Amino acid sequence: MEEKIYIFDTTLRDGEQSPGASMNLEEKLKLARQLEALQVDIIEAGFPIASDGDFESVRQIAKEVRSVSIAGLARATELDIRRAWQALELAAKPRIHTFIATSDIHLQYKLKRSREQVLEQAAEAVRLARSLCDDVEFSAEDAGRSDLDYLCQVVEAAIREGATTINIPDTVGYCIPDEFGNIFRVLREKVPNIAKARLSSHCHNDLGFAVANSLAALLNGARQVECTINGIGERAGNASLEEVVMALKVRKEKLGFTTGVVSEEIYKTSHLLSNTTGMMVQANKAIVGKNAFAHEAGIHQDGVLKQALTYEIMTPQSVGIPTNNIVLGKHSGRHALLKRYESLGYTLGKEELDRAYMLFTKLADKKKSVYDEDLLAIIHDGLKIIPERYHLKYVHATGGNQVLASATVRLSKDEEFQVESATGDGPVEATYRAIDRITGMPGRLIDYSVHAVSRGKDAVGEVFVHASFDGRSFSGKAASSDIIDASARAYLNAVNKAIHERETLAANRVAAQGVTVPQG
Ligand code: KIV
Ligand code: ZN
Repeated sequence: MEEKIYIFDTTLRDGEQSPGASMNLEEKLKLARQLEALQVDIIEAGFPIASDGDFESVRQIAKEVRSVSIAGLARATELDIRRAWQALELAAKPRIHTFIATSDIHLQYKLKRSREQVLEQAAEAVRLARSLCDDVEFSAEDAGRSDLDYLCQVVEAAIREGATTINIPDTVGYCIPDEFGNIFRVLREKVPNIAKARLSSHCHNDLGFAVANSLAALLNGARQVECTINGIGERAGNASLEEVVMALKVRKEKLGFTTGVVSEEIYKTSHLLSNTTGMMVQANKAIVGKNAFAHEAGIHQDGVLKQALTYEIMTPQSVGIPTNNIVLGKHSGRHALLKRYESLGYTLGKEELDRAYMLFTKLADKKKSVYDEDLLAIIHDGLKIIPERYHLKYVHATGGNQVLASATVRLSKDEEFQVESATGDGPVEATYRAIDRITGMPGRLIDYSVHAVSRGKDAVGEVFVHASFDGRSFSGKAASSDIIDASARAYLNAVNKAIHERETLAANRVAAQGVTVPQG
């Protein structure tokens, strides 16, 4: 009988800390619902003290996502812990996750506190957290570079004060697998009350060992793994959830562990995350990369055709990658579209199907074959969940190597139309300047990327932008067979998110004071 490994997903907290991965409330809620469908055990929904936006998303996720434990992060201070609890208290299964660094490097340079002071602070933090919540996780930040005897003392104190999970982070991705596994071995040997808590690993990928280190931790007594979808996270990222889960599944015989994750939901979750943040996974990424199941060499193709086992250690279906190659075109009807979406894992309601079908026919008029990737772009781009204040009605841009690029844009807002023109260092910049003139919200472009979502010269191009408005950064995306159209709509998507966040936070503040605000 295999032992259960608890999967703690921190995509919405550590993952969201990676540059360009910030998400708004609706996006986080959507991802949290998908993580629930994936059946992870714990979702770390955010760091409530970090900002009002973070607090609100942890609170909403705690309210809405009921079958999974919801964790909120807090430094080992009273203010952080109370704020985390405020955000979590409505959860069906709340968990306070409190942390403090234990390595001498962090104590000396960051905290400027002695080992004794940090030991006391950790114990006090867990005591307070436990007085509020039955499920408390304690993390010894930078445990991977901490003195082992000291780490044992801190862990013992945290368990004595009631910590139910002890998390050992390799915060800077410094450890190698044998070394990281050894930390768990020593903790289990030397900490007298260790059996009272579940041990957890939290690995960063700076040397590319995050998944290997997580497995080493499990082999030495950890029973929880902290990880993120697509491995996103600080710097080089965290251990990738799909890699950990599939390693445990594919090598079950060897490792003897199981998880509750529905692996067939992996691809959909990965795709949802990339489409929300614009952070695409590289083609050769294990499990979810475009080439993860593609066989190029003739000798491999021949082998796979004879028997998939020759070159495939798992099937694409086991991670939910659609393999049906039926291609839809302009003669395909609503029923075929509905069925295709079902096989991609999306059940569309009547209104969603109407909108998706309208977008599909528009696209099918422009290109001969509509592939699964195009359909996913329609669903992620066309069925937007953010109310759109500004709509693009018209865009015309010119450019070239001998002319000053210019653009004219027409937008509508509340039934009113505005037109502006601008020049720029290229048609995209000119378009964005014209949009800024209309909205009166000048944005600073942080990142811009475009890629083809399907095959051929008529492929749909998907544009992702990250832009900051008033110092807050927002992502936007749009897909179209015309790059300028996609670029303009992607930018407007970010503008609309900025407006929406402003309005939501203002409404929440007013609601907290017991006053109602007119909608509009
Ligand atoms: O990497 C780290 O140490 C963390 C902790 C806050 C758990 O993310
Ligand atoms: Zn981390």
